[in-house]
Amino acid sequence: MNATKGSAAQEAARQGHEEFLTLQEIVAAARRNLAPGPWSYLIGGAETETTVRRNRQALDAVAFRPRVLRDVSRIDSSASFLGVRTRLPVMLAPIGGLESIVEGGAAAAARAAAQFGVPQMLSSVCKPGLEETAAAADTLRSFQLYVRGDDAWVDDYVRRAKDNGFGSFCLTVDVAAYSRRERDLVGRYIKPWRAEAGAGAKFQSGLSWNQVKRYKDKHSLPLIIKGIATAEDAELAVQHGVEVIYVSNHGGRQLDHGLGSIAVLPQIVAAVAGRAEVWVDGGIMRGTDVVKAIALGAKTVGIGRLAGLGLAAAGVAGLVRALEILEEEVRICLGLLGVTSYAELTPQHLAYAPTVGTPDTFSAFPLLK
Ligand SMILES: Cc1cc2nc3c(=O)[nH]c(=O)nc-3n(C[C@H](O)[C@H](O)[C@H](O)COP(=O)(O)O)c2cc1C
Repeated sequence: MNATKGSAAQEAARQGHEEFLTLQEIVAAARRNLAPGPWSYLIGGAETETTVRRNRQALDAVAFRPRVLRDVSRIDSSASFLGVRTRLPVMLAPIGGLESIVEGGAAAAARAAAQFGVPQMLSSVCKPGLEETAAAADTLRSFQLYVRGDDAWVDDYVRRAKDNGFGSFCLTVDVAAYSRRERDLVGRYIKPWRAEAGAGAKFQSGLSWNQVKRYKDKHSLPLIIKGIATAEDAELAVQHGVEVIYVSNHGGRQLDHGLGSIAVLPQIVAAVAGRAEVWVDGGIMRGTDVVKAIALGAKTVGIGRLAGLGLAAAGVAGLVRALEILEEEVRICLGLLGVTSYAELTPQHLAYAPTVGTPDTFSAFPLLK
């Protein structure tokens, strides 16, 4: 038995990746593998990183109220993504510059998404680009655009997304100004794509609901608005016929001193009242985090840094392993809460409790400290 285990470990080592048993080990491996510049780019947030920590604080302050004796011998942890079955209610959030984190960039993420069975939202600022990423793997996919050009430029992206099998289109709207990420500035990490971003800045700051209306009047691909952080804007998005309200503060990388995503989620879910889907991201690092978000009314949960960490730890295999562990954690959590599917989860399974430590990106991984 031991001998078999030993040889399996040796085989894993020969293949260049370890047998990770915990997400903590994946984060530790990512830290070892990444040079200081890409590490701070992946992990960092804006200015004081208060929003980054509030994302974790909001999650860490939610406790569970488990129900028992409910026959949880069969648990269904699959979900649906805009009507299509997926293995978990989890999506790879758009990450620009993934090519600086892992060889193959977005194509590696697409392969991991396909291998495990979750959707990928591709960022418009990630290499190898829209067509190449779509060709890399047959996975459920959505396309995310930073509006850095005029209407014709946007329409061209919509056409290319449609032609390449992207089932929905996302506009990220929390980038009216480009934030100051101080880890990158202090480390003098110059991102190779920074010049391109600067060129389109005036289009990003000029964006208004008029462009949302224009999109809805012209295009049929379902529209996701990413970066909604208030019930007021969620209401406006619904009035404009947007299919998905994506609650996000960009992982605390844009406006500093915002509220945690999970803290604003309940108000937005109440305001939307079933008229659109509500998705969320921000600080999701554990299966319990996914369950909390779903219990609060999110339909899909995005992972940003966690996906990047999985890729940095061991490429495609590292992200697939991170998703496997996440799934195991979700299933354990559902079972211990006394539910067999997400439909049975309600806010009654949750309570608010003081956090037990200082929330930050890594408070989900206490053994790393
Ligand atoms: C390295 C990095 C790059 C990102 N690039 C993009 C992007 O190109 N487009 C976008 O809409 N959001 C981008 N985001 C934000 C993510 O899509 C997501 O909202 C955020 O990472 C969620 O928080 P989390 O990292 O704590 O999971 C990026 C996030 C990170 C960490």
